[in-house]
Amino acid sequence: MGRTGKSIVKADINEVISDLMKAYADEWLAHYQYWVTAQWIRGIDADTLRAILLKQSEDELKHAEKLAQRIIQLGGEPVLDFSKLLQTSGCGYIAPPTDPTDLKRVVEDVLKSEACAIKFYNEMVKKYRETDYVTHEIFEDLLEDEVEDEEEWDKIYSKM
Ligand SMILES: [Fe+2]
Ligand SMILES: [Fe+2]
Repeated sequence: MGRTGKSIVKADINEVISDLMKAYADEWLAHYQYWVTAQWIRGIDADTLRAILLKQSEDELKHAEKLAQRIIQLGGEPVLDFSKLLQTSGCGYIAPPTDPTDLKRVVEDVLKSEACAIKFYNEMVKKYRETDYVTHEIFEDLLEDEVEDEEEWDKIYSKM
């Protein structure tokens, strides 16, 4: 990143990178969780859920892209070693249920992941409001998306 772009960041750059990395790993793991769950599930409502899971899986990957670009801009590296993703993440990874027809569990697990992301992004939006406008805006966009995701899953869950 250019000198001026860096100089306007009033927060500690290493701390910003570390928060972005956490989010990056979370997004990647959510992307994978939703994608592999979409492949795995079976049952009457599985096709409906599959379509939503695949769409949101794509959205989480786009979130990871935004975070990766900001990490690089600040002089950091996104997680280059795949095996480090889990330890870098804040929310961890929830594997799909062993029973592929347990769709209620699937939705509960997605809701857990979304809730964790919402809490973290909300914290980040507060944290960087005055100290890093660009990072702040990324976290704000992501927060908005996750709130929408949760709402969609909440509606599905209430009908199960
Ligand atoms: Fe996301
Ligand atoms: Fe999401």
